[in-house]
Amino acid sequence: MRTQAAILWEPGTEWKVEDIELDPPRAGEVLVRVATAGLCHSEEHHRNGDVPFAAPMIGGHEGAGYVEATGPGVTLVRPGDYIVFSSIPNCGRCPSCAEGRQHLCDLGAGIMKGRQIGDGTARHHAGRAAGGPDLGISCLVGCHARHTVVNEASVIPVDATAAPEVACLTGCGVATGWGSAVYAGGTRPGSSVAVVGCGGLGSAAIQGARLAGARHVFAIDPVPFKRDKARDFGATHVAETVTAARGLVREVTWGRMCDVVVLTMGTGRADLMDDILALAAKRGRIVVTNIYPVRDGGPALALNGPALNGIAAWEKQLVGCIFGSVNSRADIPRLLGLYSDGRLDLTGMVTRTYPLEDINAGYQDMRDGRNIRGVLVM
Ligand SMILES: NC(=O)c1ccc[n+]([C@@H]2O[C@H](COP(=O)([O-])OP(=O)(O)OC[C@H]3O[C@@H](n4cnc5c(N)ncnc54)[C@H](O)[C@@H]3O)[C@@H](O)[C@H]2O)c1
Ligand SMILES: [Zn+2]
Ligand SMILES: [Zn+2]
Repeated sequence: MRTQAAILWEPGTEWKVEDIELDPPRAGEVLVRVATAGLCHSEEHHRNGDVPFAAPMIGGHEGAGYVEATGPGVTLVRPGDYIVFSSIPNCGRCPSCAEGRQHLCDLGAGIMKGRQIGDGTARHHAGRAAGGPDLGISCLVGCHARHTVVNEASVIPVDATAAPEVACLTGCGVATGWGSAVYAGGTRPGSSVAVVGCGGLGSAAIQGARLAGARHVFAIDPVPFKRDKARDFGATHVAETVTAARGLVREVTWGRMCDVVVLTMGTGRADLMDDILALAAKRGRIVVTNIYPVRDGGPALALNGPALNGIAAWEKQLVGCIFGSVNSRADIPRLLGLYSDGRLDLTGMVTRTYPLEDINAGYQDMRDGRNIRGVLVM
């Protein structure tokens, strides 16, 4: 069939919205009519050359839509079902999935290639005729498009209570931010939590910390609008920079500092790591969720320096986090349930919506700090 998608042909260029040819779903695959798709910062790292990708690629891994057709053997969904895409596929039976770590599913190994999980070939082709060049799909989803074909491992059927404009966020940004604070960070009642970078992920991390019972939530972001919104989402204190936050955190926590520090900056800053470590308490956990440009050098860490920075002396923990360490089949419906009950604010996270053809304007607004999340409405 003919449809339209936003394609990145090479780094350093803009997204191009073009007609594409989409093959029917094969075994284990699902044709989805995309309703909405969030503008996650991860695509921007490919666009600006910070993180390599297999070009050309259709963007989009945070979306919601409706199943239009299924290939042979699909048992999870049927035409008409409402789904949220899982930005990491999960099979449910590899060792990671079996241990309850669907975010680490072995199917993630093929994510950078962007080809179908079942047979490694492409269903998406550039141009108006069959046989055009193959297109990869971001995170094996490719939902910056009117339609896409994905493996059933990438779809989570959900109930229709949440509109697609908000439901889509749970497929990446909200699950990742929330899980960074709650699962990877291990926020508990009474915890002191700092969130560095209060965009799409950070706003969800703040809400996760609040829901998990944090006593203090420090929101750190250079953009005044983000700090104002952070207070709406549950931040108790705000600061413009990591460096400026140090004195504030020390004063508010009586020198104990933060049990959890979540890193959700748009672009990870290796040069800030010493100041970030200084925000952490004894046994404090720093959750590295944001992505660093591949060309950047590593951080120079004072591993056994002054007490505040001493990883050994204070048993500080530096942990990585992919997709919020969530089990998407359980956690996406869980998050939508919290939204339905009025306890998780997704509506306040969608600042602006755009038609597909305005995707570059949407990403410009993200770069300009104007959006918590921009959402494409197909
Ligand atoms: N690990 C994962 O699974 C995963 C998943 C999705 C996104 N990400 C990454 O997480 C990061 C955040 O994504 P997002 O979509 O929320 O981005 P975003 O653009 O919505 O938000 C980033 C925020 O960081 C702020 N910021 C920038 N520099 C800062 C600094 N020095 N100190 C404090 N705040 C700063 C910006 O003002 C902005 O509000 C990106 O790097 C993205 O690629 C990781
Ligand atoms: Zn994302
Ligand atoms: Zn698996």
